[in-house]
Amino acid sequence: MKPRSVVILGSTGSIGRSCLDVIRQNPGSFAVRALAAHSNVELLIEQYREFRPEYVCIVDATKAKALAQALASEKVRILVGDSDLVSLAGLPDVDLVVNAIVGAAGLKASLEAVSHQKGLALANKESLVVGGPIFRPMIEQGKATILPIDSEHSAIWQSLLSGKRSEVRDIILTASGGPFRELALERFGAITVEQALAHPTWKMGPKISIDSATMVNKGLEIIEAVTLFSISASKIKVVIHPQSIVHSMVEFQDSSVIAQLSRPDMRLPITYALFWPDRVRSDFGRMDWADVQKLTFEPPDLAKFPLLRLAREVAETGGDIPAVYNAANEIAVEAFLNRQVGFTDIYRVVAETVAQTLPTAEPTVADILAADSEARVKARKSLETVRC
Ligand SMILES: NC(=O)c1ccc[n+]([C@@H]2O[C@H](COP(=O)([O-])OP(=O)(O)OC[C@H]3O[C@@H](n4cnc5c(N)ncnc54)[C@H](OP(=O)(O)O)[C@@H]3O)[C@@H](O)[C@H]2O)c1
Repeated sequence: MKPRSVVILGSTGSIGRSCLDVIRQNPGSFAVRALAAHSNVELLIEQYREFRPEYVCIVDATKAKALAQALASEKVRILVGDSDLVSLAGLPDVDLVVNAIVGAAGLKASLEAVSHQKGLALANKESLVVGGPIFRPMIEQGKATILPIDSEHSAIWQSLLSGKRSEVRDIILTASGGPFRELALERFGAITVEQALAHPTWKMGPKISIDSATMVNKGLEIIEAVTLFSISASKIKVVIHPQSIVHSMVEFQDSSVIAQLSRPDMRLPITYALFWPDRVRSDFGRMDWADVQKLTFEPPDLAKFPLLRLAREVAETGGDIPAVYNAANEIAVEAFLNRQVGFTDIYRVVAETVAQTLPTAEPTVADILAADSEARVKARKSLETVRC
């Protein structure tokens, strides 16, 4: 069989590296056509030397010279900047685009991939959160092939194969609960960056780690599922499952619940997406059943994690409001990671920004991008009041 031709956007991140590991472990199955990163030029060069793509792209122009110098003797095309990165998602003769970029910065590449009828292996959940009003009709009309990499959505996707869409009663999204599941609310004010980054079950990039600590990640996943599976937010339940073994479930009308289980290892959902519609033999995440002590489930504490409740309201409002929620969160998380504000300020900034915005019901891409920019301005203003 001809190897699948793959573009990997965000190749230097946690998902990008796991994706390359899956490709490494399956020699002959994939040809890496292009790799793209934001600024980690050293790792991008290393990845080029191993996978020999035709294109490498760096978004941060200040790193372009270093990239060009290091690869001067190589037959590779070097691209620089946002729009060059987006163009890679539409390259001819590419089968699959992996979008492993973090944040709303991934939206344009997802739109480009889908508009060129590429298979889109999507880790960048923000694309579906921000671009929901654009992607949902395309998915419903069969005009977009989106293969979710997020472990929960991969689990739902796999579980949905057990019945018809009309037979689905509820989707049950599992959540580890993050590092503060057992911490008393009174102690949330003193949470440090290091504590928030220390996820109990998954090793991930910094932004999604903080999103897991605030449970914004689960909120974004509700909105992602609404778009991806064309289902109303009221049919998506969240349950805390600290062991991260059951990756999500679907309950059908007859009360049967179908789940997908594995040890937490993102290389398993990546393998499923990259080889879809086939399943291949692989040991990533393989269970050792003698080791499973117990699987527990409990409801989320919405007093401790108010942004999860807000995400549900935002999902129900729809339009450009999910883009506002996401943009404000990106700004607040960045400020927290830079130690400019405290952990609980993230909630304040996001809630204030959402409250200050009137929704646009059926936004265009331009409306969404404008809502995203305006929300960032409002969130920064809100941060100023926190800092004073
Ligand atoms: N990590 C996980 O286990 C996991 C699980 C489920 C879903 N996800 C989702 O997958 C996405 C990636 O997460 P991650 O944990 O892999 O993040 P990460 O480790 O921070 O990696 C992000 C990647 O995106 C690149 N990047 C950052 N800003 C960019 C920009 N403005 N334009 C283009 N590229 C940019 C980074 O390049 P540099 O390295 O050069 O900065 C890096 O390659 C997120 O949407 C996350 O929610 C992640």
